[in-house]
Amino acid sequence: MSRKKLIAGNWKMNKTSADGAALARELVLAVGSYSDADIVVCPPFTALESVATAIDGSLIKLGAQNMHFEPSGAFTGEVSAPMLRALFATHVILGHSERRDLFGETDELVNKKVLAAFKNQLRPILCVGESLAEREAGSTLKKVQSQLERDLEGVSRDQAAGLIVAYEPIWAIGTGKVATAEQAQEVHAFIRGLLTKLQGEAAAQRIRILYGGSMKPANAAELLSQKDIDGGLIGGAALEARSFVELVKAAGGKP
Ligand code: PGA
Repeated sequence: MSRKKLIAGNWKMNKTSADGAALARELVLAVGSYSDADIVVCPPFTALESVATAIDGSLIKLGAQNMHFEPSGAFTGEVSAPMLRALFATHVILGHSERRDLFGETDELVNKKVLAAFKNQLRPILCVGESLAEREAGSTLKKVQSQLERDLEGVSRDQAAGLIVAYEPIWAIGTGKVATAEQAQEVHAFIRGLLTKLQGEAAAQRIRILYGGSMKPANAAELLSQKDIDGGLIGGAALEARSFVELVKAAGGKP
């Protein structure tokens, strides 16, 4: 089955509301009607509204970088799925390694967020991946398996078909050290096999598995040509229109 490739930009804690809107307008001009690959931009919460306005009427979709699992309540500093939906977000990054490592998010918490996202018609971009120590110890696949099994507990097969997974080796994030295409494909194929076991063949064939970690125009073509690599979750190279647009076009296969 052929899956349309997806390029998602994770802006992390960068861009004010005005700067985000300016970048989004540049993207709209360059690829706002580009349909050979799907495009999602994930600005910080404070830029969601201005970016939503900037991309309105284009094919570019909006995602958040995190959310709370409850719809509302006494959770100071948190943002809920219905709040994101009200700003026209369609996607949400969940379980990014920075959330797990710097903010103590556990698989149990990520699982609650995944279930809440589906309940609110938000598509999770669920991040998994191993640390350098885990890779060197030969436990990459074990780590990814345990994350996926726990994070997807209670997800139905129908819901799973709308899932997006991002494989992000932690040692490749923001370091300039990209996984080789073979290293990435090995893990992506393993993830597809595991998803087949957990969610059935039909869902597993539809789920897009993105690679993330220092993906750039220079290394994208080789990564994106791998059978089970269905796109990229892009940090650094998503902060500038030129490199992000090049990645979108590499994914679409048409300039
Ligand atoms: P990077 O980040 O492209 O800057 O390595 C990717 C990510 O953390 O999602």
